[in-house]
Amino acid sequence: MTLTPSTIAAVPLTARPLRCRNCGADHAAAPVAVCEQCLGPLDPVYEPDRALPDRTTIARRAPSLWRYREWLPFDGDPVWSRDTGFTPLVEAPALARRLGVARAWVKNDTVCHPSLSFKDRVVAAGINAAAALGLDTIGCASTGNLANAVAAHAARAGLKAWIFIPEELEAGKVIGTSIYGPRLVRVRGTYDDVNRLCAQVADRFGWGMVNVNLRGYYGEGSKTVAYEIAEQLGWRVPTAVVAPMAGGSLLSKLRKGFGEFLEARLVDGRPPRLYGAQASGCAPIVRLVERGGDAIEPEVPRTICRSLAIGNPADGVYAARAMRETGGWAAAVSDAELVAGIRLLAEEVGVFAETAGGVTAAAALALARSGRLGPDDEVVLCITGHGLKTLEAVQGAVAEAPVVAPRLREVAALVEQ
Ligand SMILES: Cc1ncc(COP(=O)(O)O)c(C=O)c1O
Ligand SMILES: [Zn+2]
Repeated sequence: MTLTPSTIAAVPLTARPLRCRNCGADHAAAPVAVCEQCLGPLDPVYEPDRALPDRTTIARRAPSLWRYREWLPFDGDPVWSRDTGFTPLVEAPALARRLGVARAWVKNDTVCHPSLSFKDRVVAAGINAAAALGLDTIGCASTGNLANAVAAHAARAGLKAWIFIPEELEAGKVIGTSIYGPRLVRVRGTYDDVNRLCAQVADRFGWGMVNVNLRGYYGEGSKTVAYEIAEQLGWRVPTAVVAPMAGGSLLSKLRKGFGEFLEARLVDGRPPRLYGAQASGCAPIVRLVERGGDAIEPEVPRTICRSLAIGNPADGVYAARAMRETGGWAAAVSDAELVAGIRLLAEEVGVFAETAGGVTAAAALALARSGRLGPDDEVVLCITGHGLKTLEAVQGAVAEAPVVAPRLREVAALVEQ
């Protein structure tokens, strides 16, 4: 279905109103980036006494992120991207041994549908906000995975897409976006330059830039990672969760998601300790956690982990707060460590992750070494994007395959080596 003025009017979906996280000012549902009073971030307002489903009701619903629709910022049925989410939670005993913890799992968003990263979740929320608000063009500022996701979801919906990325990204991110036929624009500059430009673009053209003027809706999609982890563990929470950070939205929404399920009594116990991971060449949120205080010091990124290369993260302060207040911490790892992390996940878990997954695995090892994860812990690693998107990172790190003639004795020679 293509949104035209007549079909927009027929969309059976409305977006929830918004409230400023800092000053509490209320805003009607709209494509608006920040609070008009204080420039603070906006969150959707939910009806506190709305009917909530129990475990059995949720478990009977289709396996997508919409099974938790009462905690997503809409009234009515989603129009687009109804099949995104509900990725596997993979138990990883070999990883648990390497970390020295009781049990470990990988939340495997490398197979999120349709574009192989957790960004499909936030775009599923963002594109439905666009539908509810009557917008026929969506877009984003992206470090790569969000570009892939916006392009794929827009193509399926028949919406126009304008996507802005830094000039230098991996081929998998660029081609894996262009293939869907959006307008893709490479900007000479860092992600932070791209993001500033997109704020102006959203104002000038009135498009729905999912992580700019639809950000209040978009961010809520990340909470579904927490809901799925809780449900897939048999309606309980792990003791610790390790997740990658770029803008810091996923990390802060994990806290909100676990908090909401605890509040709804769908799970019991304490919220998990949240641990954030970044590459040391771009670690402004890790440095804030280590330093203390309440202000990000922006950095110029220097790392092969381009997906996490945000020097001035919009939700960095909230992510740091989520880590401190749950008793967690943060860790930064070198590019060499992140490549080793990608190999570890592949060899020990059978999951091929992009650079952000390598950062997360390597950070978990560092946190275990420093005693922040211990023998009683049940740990979930959020592995958020597929490794085929960043082949450049591991090209030099894998063994070269021998070439043989189609003769048994040449294989026998290899076996005997
Ligand atoms: C693969 C991957 N993981 C994690 C993140 C971090 O997301 P957030 O910006 O919500 O911190 C990103 C962001 O681009 C990403 O591409
Ligand atoms: Zn405000």
